[in-house]
Amino acid sequence: MSLALCAHHDLSRDNTLGLPCRAERFVAPASLDEVREALDLARREGGPLTLLGGGSNLILPTWLPGLVVHPAMQSWWLEERGREVLVHAEAAVVWHELVMALAARGLWGTENLALIPGQCGAAPIQNIGAYGVELSDVIEAVHLVHLDDGREAVLSPAACAFGYRDSVFKGALEGRVVITRLVLRLSRSPRPRLGYGELAARVGASPSALEVAEAVCAIRCEKLPDPAVLGNAGSFFKNPVVAADLARTLAKAHPTMPHFPQPDGRVKLAAGWLIDQCGLKGWRQGHFGVHERQALVLVHFGGGSAVELLDFAGQVADAVRERFGVTLEREPRLAVPA
Ligand code: EPU
Repeated sequence: MSLALCAHHDLSRDNTLGLPCRAERFVAPASLDEVREALDLARREGGPLTLLGGGSNLILPTWLPGLVVHPAMQSWWLEERGREVLVHAEAAVVWHELVMALAARGLWGTENLALIPGQCGAAPIQNIGAYGVELSDVIEAVHLVHLDDGREAVLSPAACAFGYRDSVFKGALEGRVVITRLVLRLSRSPRPRLGYGELAARVGASPSALEVAEAVCAIRCEKLPDPAVLGNAGSFFKNPVVAADLARTLAKAHPTMPHFPQPDGRVKLAAGWLIDQCGLKGWRQGHFGVHERQALVLVHFGGGSAVELLDFAGQVADAVRERFGVTLEREPRLAVPA
């Protein structure tokens, strides 16, 4: 066994919420062979297995029994296809660093997704999205290894079943595969997408990909807390998609309510606005709070635990349900060993 196994490994710095957590055993495979080796080990031992990426969308318990596998493959490369370019990025490539490197090369497609925390391997799980773009707009393929027998597979975008903050990796394949590599399709032809919010006002008439990425970074820095300074997992709730009738009733009672009709006739509401309207922006209880500039982000001031966080989040969701009759769904996943 060439893999270095750590016992009782401290994960409190490996999750952006900064929750205290120890893994019974921890391994960081740095190649595909080492991933297979780690999975073989987990199968032989038969204990629980948890996969950990950048820890930016995860709620960790104080103790994780069994083996935690944290892929550490960090290469990325380009494959030219005329005016298009395929980008191959292994699981542990830091998403934001990749986005900035691609934008600096004049490659279009991921610039609106700058500054999203986390690693490439986790990006398809929740189909990361921001400023009118989702990962599913640029994904070409997802390479993975099955946990049960170590076989490799490559999924097409259709097989990934992407939806709003959703994919097959949260459904039928949850806890059953390790994502090892993404393939993205980017373009050398300028195609700025500036329709969301104030983005267009932040850049000139024909911006470069890098200028768009930098504008996105500036907007995010104004609203969203830096996890290195204040623990958080970005948006804690999904924006709820409700029936047209309920949206109509709410919009009548609250004419300023942001609402976005969906192709299926339902209507997406802004969870941050709903929480804000409940007067909860900046509310703090114990070790957790609602961020003072973006009510959709819950923050950890340090010293708290997952149990306390879930209780706090439950109170926020209860307030929204009582006031608006809308149920909020949590966005970060609970780490439950497979
Ligand atoms: N709003 C308020 N008060 C708040 C927060 C928001 O009134 O405290 C209002 C805003 O004024 C705006 C509307 O709600 O009219 C939507 O707010 P915003 O544009 O900030 O976006 P969001 O819906 O709160 C979503 C994503 C973010 C992404 C932004 C920009 C989800 C769950 N969140 O937030 O993603 O960066 O749009 O595209 O879809 C993440 O997933 O972690 C994340 C940060």
